[in-house]
Amino acid sequence: MNICASELAELPQRLPLPWPAAVTAPPRRVLAVGVIGPGRVGSALLEQLRAAQPRLVRDSGLELRLCGVVASKRMWLDCDDAELNGRHDGAQIWRPNDLDAFAEHVGGNDGRHALLIDCSANDDVAAHYPRWLAAGMHVVTPNKLAGSGPLPRWQAIRAACASGARFRYEATVCAGLPVVQTLRDLLDTGDELLAVEGMFSGTLAWLCNRHDGQQPFSALVREAHALGYTEPDPRDDLSGLDVARKLVILAREAGWPLSLEDVVVESLVPDSLAALPLEACMQRLHELDALMSARLAEARASGGVLRYVASLDRHGRARVKLVVLPAKHPFAHTRLTDNIVQFTTRRYCDNPLSVQGPGAGPEVTAAGVFTDLLRIAESLEARA
Ligand SMILES: NC(=O)c1ccc[n+]([C@@H]2O[C@H](COP(=O)([O-])OP(=O)(O)OC[C@H]3O[C@@H](n4cnc5c(N)ncnc54)[C@H](OP(=O)(O)O)[C@@H]3O)[C@@H](O)[C@H]2O)c1
Repeated sequence: MNICASELAELPQRLPLPWPAAVTAPPRRVLAVGVIGPGRVGSALLEQLRAAQPRLVRDSGLELRLCGVVASKRMWLDCDDAELNGRHDGAQIWRPNDLDAFAEHVGGNDGRHALLIDCSANDDVAAHYPRWLAAGMHVVTPNKLAGSGPLPRWQAIRAACASGARFRYEATVCAGLPVVQTLRDLLDTGDELLAVEGMFSGTLAWLCNRHDGQQPFSALVREAHALGYTEPDPRDDLSGLDVARKLVILAREAGWPLSLEDVVVESLVPDSLAALPLEACMQRLHELDALMSARLAEARASGGVLRYVASLDRHGRARVKLVVLPAKHPFAHTRLTDNIVQFTTRRYCDNPLSVQGPGAGPEVTAAGVFTDLLRIAESLEARA
């Protein structure tokens, strides 16, 4: 839990309204916001919202009203009801997590614009999206579980947007990089997606960049773990599942009904490590080394480099695997934890359109979420 109740209580006082006297104020729009999951990304987002609020009010008349924050076990509801939020003592009180009550509180019953931001990695939260959207609440998330989860649920989410509510999830693929929006813009302007190829894991990009035979692969995994580049359990990165989820999200964005089960995934986790408790797995990480040394030698023999690549071809075949690429390939020249995505389309056919840059980290991910919020806010009509 990274947000403290006193910070929430202070929030309204930190939001000055510095209208320049001589300038006509833009039409005022108010957006009620509820944040689900004040972890690393959620906390970074709350900071960004606080910092941006005065400028948003001044330049675009957008007032963000933080109505509540909910974590895995507790929630804070911020409203003028003294009994509910404990404001009579100048402090917030928390109540047990109740997502339905939380959404009802943020949505209100006064016809306001309301947005729920899911910064958890929880499937139960994702299961609520269809209901929230159908009730007219917008949803923004970096959580991949809806976009790559069961297809019927994904279809229910899309159908629920008929209410006029919007669902945006830019940060699910490559964090703050404009990947989903780029694809959407291509399609909206009449282009046709032919193929997608990319490196969607900053962790695996870093490992492949650093794996030069000087150190065993397992030593690099340990280093990445110590630097916080991997998930708490590095097998979550090495299994390729997270990369496969991102590929499914992009395919569905392009209208292809892909499911996770359709993606052929090459896991880098040997069977002998797959089911071990984390500590035992970390002790036996050297079992990765023989295979990865052999793969590196194979790449070198052909003058190439090893990269962990996701691809979707024009027949809808989806793969995530370790491949040998020529040394001149654009994927061979990424830096550190860079992600890269290439869209081959009817227009960008000979030379694909690429998006590249850091694709993980709480701040850039939160900025991707914030961008989605602003896109939704742009389309709101003035309503108090
Ligand atoms: N970190 C990144 O660089 C990055 C990049 C791209 C996408 N993402 C995605 O962004 C999301 C958040 O990542 P993170 O790194 O911020 O994770 P995190 O630090 O583990 O935070 C997760 C938050 O979700 C809350 N939570 C869990 N279950 C919940 C529930 N049922 N109801 C309400 N809240 C619940 C947790 O509550 P407690 O505080 O009570 O535990 C915690 O505050 C994930 O979906 C992740 O895949 C992260």
